[in-house]
Amino acid sequence: MKAAVRYSYGPIDSIQVLEIPVPEPKANEVRIKVMSATVNRTDLGVLTGKPYIMRAFAGFPKPTKPVTGTDFAGIVDKVGEKVTEFKIGDRVWGFQDNGAGTQGEFVCISVKTAIMKIPKEISFAEIVACAEAAHYAYNFLNKVKLVPGNHVLVNGGTGAIGSAAIQLMKTQGILVTAVCHENNVEKVKALGADRVIALEKEDFTKEKIEYDIVLDAVGKSRFSLCKSILKPGGIYISSELGPNWENLTLALTTPIFRGKKVVFPLPLDILNSMNHIQDLLLKGQFKPLMDRTFPLDQVREAYTYVASEKKIGNVILEISRDS
Ligand SMILES: NC(=O)c1ccc[n+]([C@@H]2O[C@H](COP(=O)([O-])OP(=O)(O)OC[C@H]3O[C@@H](n4cnc5c(N)ncnc54)[C@H](OP(=O)(O)O)[C@@H]3O)[C@@H](O)[C@H]2O)c1
Repeated sequence: MKAAVRYSYGPIDSIQVLEIPVPEPKANEVRIKVMSATVNRTDLGVLTGKPYIMRAFAGFPKPTKPVTGTDFAGIVDKVGEKVTEFKIGDRVWGFQDNGAGTQGEFVCISVKTAIMKIPKEISFAEIVACAEAAHYAYNFLNKVKLVPGNHVLVNGGTGAIGSAAIQLMKTQGILVTAVCHENNVEKVKALGADRVIALEKEDFTKEKIEYDIVLDAVGKSRFSLCKSILKPGGIYISSELGPNWENLTLALTTPIFRGKKVVFPLPLDILNSMNHIQDLLLKGQFKPLMDRTFPLDQVREAYTYVASEKKIGNVILEISRDS
């Protein structure tokens, strides 16, 4: 089978598309013919092993799985002898944030991990775009108490996490102001944002409005800069650790005092996120923002595009085509 492979942590050039043996499922695994994966920011972390903390999860000193890829949507093509939950022909999707080896024509996945069936009306590309970033967005928001009418500012409305977060909050009756580059204002409005700030025109940190939460979904700002636009007791959440991992330190120290604080949520329970997002997708309340699609042979180009920090939402890697 054809797969995107690398044997140590390294740059995008270390990925090669090679012919490798088709894997055999263990007793608790299903083998999946992968139709679509995304190339996302978590994939970049698993590829490069940076930040170094990634290696504690993805393998040390080298990646546990030589095939790249964290998410998948495909068709079960073989089942291990103890598997009862899935059968050959089932359409399934899933995500493992420490690397699942999904950017190849076949992958074996344990049924004890985050894997679930895809409803027939949803395409492989659409569902796989609901995995990585939507899981993070959901986890950032479900770690704080939000009530209808709260006002949240999302920095990075076009990012995969930001675009998912805007939509998730609109299902909860939250007032959302989003920040993005001027050329993407209409795209972000279409996601449901109540107000959009073009970052070339206005510095959102100088606003007179006070927010309940500032969600820095692209990790480009800082708590110190956003403090003045938070209400008393307001919360700053960033998707990045920040300079010298300050967001982690601030998440430990700011709750000691009764003021504005930083929350640095740990994204857990992927299956719960998948269930929630799939449900919203079926109800028409969530639609993943999708960017370019690359074939497997252009996997390096896909990673290069994602590393440019210019993607709009999710980048799809088409691994196999419906026959
Ligand atoms: N904490 C976690 O568990 C976790 C997990 C996954 C990812 N992350 C991190 O979360 C961040 C977001 O990931 P993602 O996949 O959502 O990002 P992404 O999709 O790669 O973000 C790219 C988008 O961000 C926009 N952007 C770039 N600079 C901006 C700025 N200064 N202000 C506003 N928007 C800006 C870009 O818009 P333009 O094209 O208009 O520039 C582009 O649309 C990354 O830093 C990633 O490493 C954290």
